[in-house]
Amino acid sequence: MPAGKTVALVGRTGSGKSTVLSLLPRVFDPPPGTVFLDGVDVREWDLGALRARIAPAPQETFLFSATVAENIAYGAYDAAPEAVQAASRLANLDGDVQGFPAGYETRVGERGITLSGGQRQRAAIARAVLREAPVLLLDDCLSAVDTQTEEAILQGLRGEMRRRTCLLVSHRVSAVREADEILVFDRGRIAERGRHDELLALDGRYAALHRAQQLEEEIEAS
Ligand SMILES: Nc1ncnc2c1ncn2[C@@H]1O[C@H](COP(=O)(O)OP(=O)(O)OP(=O)(O)O)[C@@H](O)[C@H]1O
Ligand SMILES: [Mg+2]
Repeated sequence: MPAGKTVALVGRTGSGKSTVLSLLPRVFDPPPGTVFLDGVDVREWDLGALRARIAPAPQETFLFSATVAENIAYGAYDAAPEAVQAASRLANLDGDVQGFPAGYETRVGERGITLSGGQRQRAAIARAVLREAPVLLLDDCLSAVDTQTEEAILQGLRGEMRRRTCLLVSHRVSAVREADEILVFDRGRIAERGRHDELLALDGRYAALHRAQQLEEEIEAS
């Protein structure tokens, strides 16, 4: 995958998308000679240096019992409040936070407010964006918001994504159609790969997924 490009992964639940993403920061160790970053086998990298270059927004976010600002700045402790807010704005979270009793100083978790699934996911995106790492991993991190909101958030993130190398997982065709390459996963293997138009022309799994989701959207809209 060329640096600076966006590659999207789609496919059934359990087909191996998250597993592939987790090989890059070595959550799982890939076999030698299989996964490289900047031409160097991830196993040869110093683990800290490798992970400093990767900003993950995982499928399941972990939030601490701390303020909203502290949660966003996790991994970027020296970030200025303005930078935290800018990242939050990019993730489309700022409006929500402004409505909290103490804004960015509102506590999250046991002693504070509970964030909705969609708010948690957007906090994870803000956290990843703030890290300023060259590689961004977005693992289905907008599944809890509706299709239109997902599109709006991704539109806002496009600039960030263009500045970085981005691996994007989503269940929705609408979220991946702009990617430089789309990989369709099936039972741990890549079943189809190409750009949106190429995959539609192929008329295989991706095209079927596209048709099914278009139908769903039409039903939702009516
Ligand atoms: N540590 C593990 N040991 C054995 N099998 C595992 C392990 N972790 C995950 N799996 C299995 O590997 C498969 C791929 O899981 P993965 O989380 O990568 O799927 P996914 O494509 O991200 O699915 P989803 O869309 O639901 O997030 C699943 O069948 C899962 O149960
Ligand atoms: Mg997954």
